Amino acid sequence: MAGTLSIVGVGPGDPELITLRAARLIGSASVVAYFCREKHPSQARTIAQAHIGPDTEELRLVYPFTTEVSVGDPAYHQNMTAFYDQSAQRLAAALASGRNVTLLCEGDPFLYGSAMYVFDRLHKQWNTQVVPGIMAMNGCWSQAQAPMTHGDDVLCVLPATLPEAKLASWLERADAAVIMKIGRNMPHVRQAISQSGRMDDALYVERGTQGGQVITPLAEREGAAPYFSLVLLPGRKRVR
Ligand SMILES: C[S@@+](CC[C@H](N)C(=O)[O-])C[C@H]1O[C@@H](n2cnc3c(N)ncnc32)[C@H](O)[C@@H]1O
Repeated sequence: MAGTLSIVGVGPGDPELITLRAARLIGSASVVAYFCREKHPSQARTIAQAHIGPDTEELRLVYPFTTEVSVGDPAYHQNMTAFYDQSAQRLAAALASGRNVTLLCEGDPFLYGSAMYVFDRLHKQWNTQVVPGIMAMNGCWSQAQAPMTHGDDVLCVLPATLPEAKLASWLERADAAVIMKIGRNMPHVRQAISQSGRMDDALYVERGTQGGQVITPLAEREGAAPYFSLVLLPGRKRVR
């Protein structure tokens, strides 16, 4: 009997924000897998640590690179395709041997998650289940005490990797917005927010729900931003 692949969201960082189902599937897995950078701990594993049993096998899926090669470089796609093929093969080998595998994913697996690329490669052939997780954005807006959408507000989720003009154009149209993947994109995110006239409303959240959390108006934040940061633009706040 082949094993089951469980792709589980582990939430935005606070270990208490993991679902009961995710905790159970981590605790009962023969193999726990996670994506990580070479010589770095996996954020998802750190969140899930308390639920990983002492005899559980761990499968580290180590990215060949993260931000060192730009997404526009053809080498990026070539290498990442090979990496996801190889990761899927390693997971499939464990499943074929009858072991249940739980793949950890920070936040929710289906929102900008690497797990989606192995899901695409495996779910038709192997018994697969997906467990939702609390996303970074709702962890962050709860911590910031920022109600986001009221009435018929439209929420727009934007990757900061978009060019400045596209970001500004979406921001002009959306009532509420979340900008993710800030990191080195901070300068043009700032420009796009200013250009759309929304700097006064923008909130910056770094490491939301985690130790070292920072929440501040974006206008008061200077300098670079780490990878685990996002910007919230709450909706129009219509009074009912
Ligand atoms: C590849 S996406 C993964 C999103 C994740 N699957 C989710 O459901 O939120 C990574 C981005 O999520 C955001 N992020 C993740 N955890 C965060 C946290 N604790 N605080 C702030 N932003 C976070 C950052 O914008 C980061 O660049």
